[in-house]
Amino acid sequence: MSITYHVQSNVFQLDGKNSTYLIGVYDNRFLTSLYYGKKLEILNPSRLMVTRELGFSPSPHEDFYKRYVSLDTLPSECPSFGYGDFRIPAITIEQNDGSRCLDLRYAGYEILTKKPSIKGIPSLKEDDNCDTLKIILKDKLTKVEVNLYYNVYNDRDVITRHMIIRNKGDEKINITKAMSCSFDLRDNNFNLLQLIGCHCEERHIEVTPLRHGISKIESRRGSSSHMLNPFFALLRKDTTEDVGEVYGINLVYSGSYEGTIEVDQRHTTRVQMGISSFDFSWPLDVKESFETPEVVMVYSNGGLNGMSQQFHNLYNDCLLKKQYYHPIVVNNWEATYFGFDEEKLDKLISSAKGLGIETFVLDDGWFGKRNNDESSLGDWYVNKEKLPHGLEGVAEMCKKNGLKFGLWFEPEMISEDSDLYRAHPDYAIKIPNRPHLYSRCQLVLDLSRKEVCDYIIDAISKVVDKLDISYIKWDFNRNISETYSKQLTHKYVLGLYYVLETLTKKYPKIMIEGCSGGGGRFDPAMLYYTPQIWTSDDSDAIERLYIQYGTSLVYPPTTMVGHVSVTPNHQTGRVTPFKTRGIVAMSANFGYELNPQVLTEQEREMVKDQTKTYRNLKKVIYNSDFYRLRNPFGGKDCAWSFVRKDKKEVYVMYVRILNSATNEFDWLVLKGLDSKKIYVNVETNEKFSGSELMSAGILLPRHPYDFNGIMYHFKEDKE
Ligand code: GLA
Repeated sequence: MSITYHVQSNVFQLDGKNSTYLIGVYDNRFLTSLYYGKKLEILNPSRLMVTRELGFSPSPHEDFYKRYVSLDTLPSECPSFGYGDFRIPAITIEQNDGSRCLDLRYAGYEILTKKPSIKGIPSLKEDDNCDTLKIILKDKLTKVEVNLYYNVYNDRDVITRHMIIRNKGDEKINITKAMSCSFDLRDNNFNLLQLIGCHCEERHIEVTPLRHGISKIESRRGSSSHMLNPFFALLRKDTTEDVGEVYGINLVYSGSYEGTIEVDQRHTTRVQMGISSFDFSWPLDVKESFETPEVVMVYSNGGLNGMSQQFHNLYNDCLLKKQYYHPIVVNNWEATYFGFDEEKLDKLISSAKGLGIETFVLDDGWFGKRNNDESSLGDWYVNKEKLPHGLEGVAEMCKKNGLKFGLWFEPEMISEDSDLYRAHPDYAIKIPNRPHLYSRCQLVLDLSRKEVCDYIIDAISKVVDKLDISYIKWDFNRNISETYSKQLTHKYVLGLYYVLETLTKKYPKIMIEGCSGGGGRFDPAMLYYTPQIWTSDDSDAIERLYIQYGTSLVYPPTTMVGHVSVTPNHQTGRVTPFKTRGIVAMSANFGYELNPQVLTEQEREMVKDQTKTYRNLKKVIYNSDFYRLRNPFGGKDCAWSFVRKDKKEVYVMYVRILNSATNEFDWLVLKGLDSKKIYVNVETNEKFSGSELMSAGILLPRHPYDFNGIMYHFKEDKE
């Protein structure tokens, strides 16, 4: 049992593999954070529960003679507003008389044997060794009850949390803030790491010293966003890739969110993550309840790589669905954009034959009268002018050439110039009496309405039912700007999950690839439904190094999609070697974003080679530990490796960025191997001991040009 209740001291001890989280009940009244860090055995946990008097910090009513008791100084697991804690609250509620005060007192606990699911929101599965602590807090006056859930994964260093607010009073209330987690760390000796970006430059790493006051990451866009991923980490100042403490926090949610860190006057650090409280208000009637999404908290004492491997293993084991096949695809977007017809597709598809490609994905432009991005979203029936033989005709071309068929949709959107809009203008999100705001000339369907969600399910089903289709690319190419109510963005996300839940249940064999102008909605909740996501609209191999490196901090490489595209690259104009493009794309779910017709004979041979290599590589990638070896944000180069779980096989990907004339001796040191094993370089037959590879390393060659990519494949020597 990883949850221990110390009766004498009123302390809950949650133990992971190498970590401990301690929660106390101060004076049988207030739920207080005591400790989060390296695993410990504690003789007298009540020693950790201390308060001291502090000027200007108010005390609860009953503590007139005990000035040292103040919620402003007591660390808290669920701080509320208006009862003396001036730091950020985890929960705020407006009552009928205008009061926002909540005095939440400890009212008991339960230990559950089953991890509860969250209504309408995806959450992680339990594994074989998971226990749940439920703590109940109550406000006597309003009769608001709060349930805090802590799911402890005993064999990992993972705790997931969420909160339920129950209105047990006799008046309606309004929730204006409800965090999925809140806890206080005992000091502020941290750097803050966040994943920043924009369209075509997602999840770049930014590390800054944590300062006093409030630091915040958030999205107000109705999606988890390109700009700031719903993830942050607190790192000890001396933490590196391989050593030191890290606390990683990731929200299982796809809409507007906030992650907040507050360093207070006593230099303690409050950490919160949850749905955005900006422009949020959720009415809760008598007897109703509100459930927050789940937050994942990972502790690592093995640096950033230690944290990432925890996230990867957890998501592989408890989040990502296993029933899908992830094929090697060729996608026609960068090959044709909107300008295709049957003849062009036929040539493209037949030129993919024999290359080892498994699926053809028909991207945007096949429906309505869509010849550019100004019309037809919502009209999910085939454009007969472009495709007189319908999608069935394209499916036939695929079949003839031994490929499976995949199709692009952007189901959550509507164009003003569409039959759907002409029939149902009210389906588009809009602020009454104001004109529409356009983004990529399109509007967003109002998924907070059930009939709109059902329209989407129906429209997609009608297409899919007629076709033998194995793959959908699900795009989302704008954010929600016209939030006409304070519930809209959360209701929208619930609507989206309803649609995805229904479709994935109805079509359990169709793999949905997520996309939002690339990686604009790369979060664990989307990954639950769409187990791979088009990582970025930037397909340039060098830019992808940064994007994939940053993404790998949290998300397993098997959730990313990487495609080889042509050069000069369409986004950057950069010319990179074909081999390098392959090496970078093969570090994710592999495919091509080009017309194979344009390939030279030599390149076609390279494609055959790449798809063959990838088939073996994929078996390793899907069953490996990922190690980052060289950080591209350092400037010179980038390297990472996939080490099969049994350590018998290793792939190493290295890319030099700009070359230099110096004849340097550059040794690439590997990680995570078995130091006692002998490994053979499959290409050269050269043998190395594991300890040599992990200490002395391999000597990189002189690079012949910029952007040189090298892939090493080592196997355990059987002789
Ligand atoms: C988005 C996607 C692209 C492509 C286009 C089509 O930008 O990220 O891959 O599908 O839409 O319009």
